[in-house]
Amino acid sequence: MTGRLDGKVALVIGAARGIGKAVATRFAEEGARLVIADSEAETGAATARELGAAFIATDISRFDDAKAAVALALDTYGSLDILVQNAGIYPWQLIEDTEPEDWDRVLGVNLKGCFLAARAALPAMKAQGSGRLLFTSSITGPHVTMPGQAHYSASKAGINGFIRAAALEFSGYGICVNGVEPGNIETEGVGEHRSADFIQSMRDAIPLGRLGHVRDIANAFLFLASDEASYITGTTLVVDGGQLLPEGANFRINP
Ligand SMILES: NC(=O)c1ccc[n+]([C@@H]2O[C@H](COP(=O)([O-])OP(=O)(O)OC[C@H]3O[C@@H](n4cnc5c(N)ncnc54)[C@H](O)[C@@H]3O)[C@@H](O)[C@H]2O)c1
Repeated sequence: MTGRLDGKVALVIGAARGIGKAVATRFAEEGARLVIADSEAETGAATARELGAAFIATDISRFDDAKAAVALALDTYGSLDILVQNAGIYPWQLIEDTEPEDWDRVLGVNLKGCFLAARAALPAMKAQGSGRLLFTSSITGPHVTMPGQAHYSASKAGINGFIRAAALEFSGYGICVNGVEPGNIETEGVGEHRSADFIQSMRDAIPLGRLGHVRDIANAFLFLASDEASYITGTTLVVDGGQLLPEGANFRINP
């Protein structure tokens, strides 16, 4: 099927690379008109050129930046139908080494960024009586966790709570609010922040036998952004190759 987002205007935040770029690419393939927002101006602009999108340099932890990104979509295309707040950071840091400002930065981008993006998009979506607000959560935080990810886990668990609250508050405005919870996905960020041993241990823990591809996540976002998901709000979709299923490490069938 193609054209599932024909005529729709989408803003994807954190889309210079990785999962966000795949979401923007998938949306473009399905006919969406795009704005890409990212803190990395050079890479973001290059991705936007590739996809025929408008670009704005944005730090989503800042309300003025969130408002400017929404304004660019409205000025360029006249409406905003879909917003994806995907920007997230995941430094590895034990609690005992985490300074308050480290905590604030992770929560500021990952969690506050979702609130700010929603807050910025709300007036336009409320006025048009429709909209999709979509967020990248994670299995890490809402379901499982690991050492070094306390701030990250708190931020992603917080996103799920925010999704439910916003879905309820915005239900009367025709706005659906949902999220995707990726498992372990092969991205540039994972390559930078996780060791090869860690990545292999994740591969071993995934029943489907591989890390996720960014397109696996993009397809979930596409579904939640499409007309097919018009009766879904306040929920998250786990896309993890079955990683949450095993009760223990020894889960493979050995006949
Ligand atoms: N890769 C995984 O295994 C995985 C698993 C679960 C959840 N996630 C989540 O998916 C999202 C994307 O992860 P990824 O692996 O593609 O990361 P990535 O580092 O490859 O890409 C993240 C993008 O967000 C941008 N960004 C970072 N801070 C920003 C800010 N303050 N404002 C605007 N843009 C900013 C970066 O420049 C980059 O383009 C994150 O929210 C992450 O927590 C990833």
